[in-house]
Amino acid sequence: MTTLKETLQRKIEEHRPRTTRLLKECSDVKISDVTIGQAIGGARGVKCLVTDTSYLDPMEGIRFRGKTIPETFAALPKAAGREYPSVESFWYYILTGEIPTLEEAQAVEADFKERAQVPAYVFDVVRALPADSHPMAMFSSAILSMQRESIFARRHREGMGKMEYWDPMYEDCSNLLARLPEIGAFIYRHKFKGGDIIAPDKSLDLGGNFAHMMGIGSPYDEVARMYFILHSDHESGNVSAHTIHLVASALSDCYYALSAGINGLAGPLHGLANENVLRWTQKFMEGLEGQEPTEEIIRKALWDTLNSGQVIPGYGHAVLRKTDPRYTSQREFCLKNLPDYPLFKVISMIYKVAPDVLKEHGKAKNPWPNVDAQSGVVQWYYGVTEYSFYTVLFGIGRAIGTLANIVWDRALGYPIERPKSLTTAMLEEMAGIR
Ligand SMILES: CC(C)(COP(=O)(O)OP(=O)(O)OC[C@H]1O[C@@H](n2cnc3c(N)ncnc32)[C@H](O)[C@@H]1OP(=O)(O)O)[C@@H](O)C(=O)NCCC(=O)NCCS
Repeated sequence: MTTLKETLQRKIEEHRPRTTRLLKECSDVKISDVTIGQAIGGARGVKCLVTDTSYLDPMEGIRFRGKTIPETFAALPKAAGREYPSVESFWYYILTGEIPTLEEAQAVEADFKERAQVPAYVFDVVRALPADSHPMAMFSSAILSMQRESIFARRHREGMGKMEYWDPMYEDCSNLLARLPEIGAFIYRHKFKGGDIIAPDKSLDLGGNFAHMMGIGSPYDEVARMYFILHSDHESGNVSAHTIHLVASALSDCYYALSAGINGLAGPLHGLANENVLRWTQKFMEGLEGQEPTEEIIRKALWDTLNSGQVIPGYGHAVLRKTDPRYTSQREFCLKNLPDYPLFKVISMIYKVAPDVLKEHGKAKNPWPNVDAQSGVVQWYYGVTEYSFYTVLFGIGRAIGTLANIVWDRALGYPIERPKSLTTAMLEEMAGIR
């Protein structure tokens, strides 16, 4: 057994009595009230999920296992000469809450290499889809096609006990995560590079291998590590994380669950916003016809978007009420590595103007940028200009936290999720208007 799995098992055994005690002694303690506004309004702010991998504070932003983004990057071990930690070290951390040593992180890298072989039929599935299929449809189909590999599904059929669930779930999730970079890079090169596929290099870590298979040189490996970790987890109420948790709660395996979550991430109000930010910005720059962008021109373009009934992509958030620290982290990367890049300058100018426009518009509760407002610039700079691919990158990252979360769901015996619904007439009666 790897150190990671041993540590995870110890953590699970330590944690289980806490959940048991809460259920046994404190089940009736109230943690939230629900209003009609919340029932109709997408359950915004209703506290009814338990997630230990991360917590999203409206003002501070995300904390992974208690650490902010800068704290996480600083705490995790880095191989010599690298600025960012490996995805494998982060997987260890998000699963266990413990910072691995460099050796422990490298043991996960070695373990992932054993697991990373993508079955050949997955590529056939992607090739069989119409060429104009969205990369997210390809990604979701590829993941779903591997369901037959599930150890959890087989062990469940064979009648394993509930206390054992976490083990095959951990095995499945590790296998799936280790394979995602090759699937993502395959989709990219199949769809956008004429099918000129680059074979994986087993000597590299997950981020390095992804950059290699994309066909992009250094420092794109660092970008990949940063990007995947930044997008990994945002507690579990967001559409992708919640879907993955919900589907897995029916004891569906992680292939079914992640594929479903990827479908949610593909929505323009969720992960697809990063594609839309680039589409919006490119269209805006084309419209300039060589003219230098100014704050005034940007303000007008933003108002035109709002007045046509559309949202400003990359701005606003259901929980956050300040600039997303994932935006800030990537902005700092840009300030260091591509300060004079014209697209970055435009994105920075939008950052100066858009919050005031949204405040004046008066609808969005949060006028500040989210992660999607910044992530495409970095990709574009390093040559990934096919923005319909961006959400696949988000999906590879999002798998890390959400797969860790469903391993814990099974470890703690969380039941099938089943909130209660009411009819409109019932709400009218409760409100005394019927
Ligand atoms: C993220 C998002 C879906 C959150 O939705 P929400 O929790 O309902 O947000 P709010 O409570 O602030 O929405 C209140 C109103 O402001 C509008 N609003 C929110 N963000 C807006 C934006 N960026 N541009 C224009 N209007 C916006 C909403 O559409 C809503 O309008 P309505 O009352 O006419 O339906 C929303 O901010 C959005 O659509 N942003 C743009 C897409 C995006 O960047 N998504 C990625 C999120 S990580």
